[in-house]
Amino acid sequence: MVNFQTAVCGDSSINIYLKKCHDFLGEMGALEHSQRHAEIVSQRTTDILKGLEFDDYTCSLGKIAGYLHDIGNIVNRYEHGRAGSFLILPFLKKLNLDEVGISVILGAIGNHEENSGGHSVNAVSAAVLIADKSDVNRERVRKADISTFKPRDRVNYAVEETLLTVDKNKKLITLSILIDQDISSVMGYFEIFITKMVLCRRAADYLKCSFELIINDTKVL
Ligand SMILES: [Fe+2]
Ligand SMILES: [Fe+2]
Repeated sequence: MVNFQTAVCGDSSINIYLKKCHDFLGEMGALEHSQRHAEIVSQRTTDILKGLEFDDYTCSLGKIAGYLHDIGNIVNRYEHGRAGSFLILPFLKKLNLDEVGISVILGAIGNHEENSGGHSVNAVSAAVLIADKSDVNRERVRKADISTFKPRDRVNYAVEETLLTVDKNKKLITLSILIDQDISSVMGYFEIFITKMVLCRRAADYLKCSFELIINDTKVL
């Protein structure tokens, strides 16, 4: 079993690449993609898999895939999932993983983008998709001047809290979001996130679960 804290999360090269991904995307005016996002996606991926009682090995693959899913942004924002898979193979080969485990991680990283043919190709991939798309919040907006916000900035800025829960008995994955409707309406959220939410629903289907979206205590999906 890979010691995630030392071998992945504690790898100084990986963390420099993640920092540079965040910096490069900042030059494009994109949302925060720092180590914080990597940690959140890693943790939520693990929570989903653990919550559905996948074995420890699969959970550890999810932890790694979640942490590394955006590393391809070091090359370019576009097709960063695919770039990330190619880039990370030599690193994964150094870890104590078998080829099947490595394949699962590569498939998960390469399939996490909704606009580049992202598809749930294995359970880890499905969990990474849901974990990634659920990380919506105010902290991710880097612009200070609200008048310069693009729609995606505005919606993220409006989100005050997100909570992702897994109910294994009901086979239900729930994303609960608290939105400040003075900043963005619920419809504004949907306009930006509908393709991501469709992908989450398909990912939940793959995991033999339903996907539920609750905004301000009202079930909307
Ligand atoms: Fe991404
Ligand atoms: Fe991401």
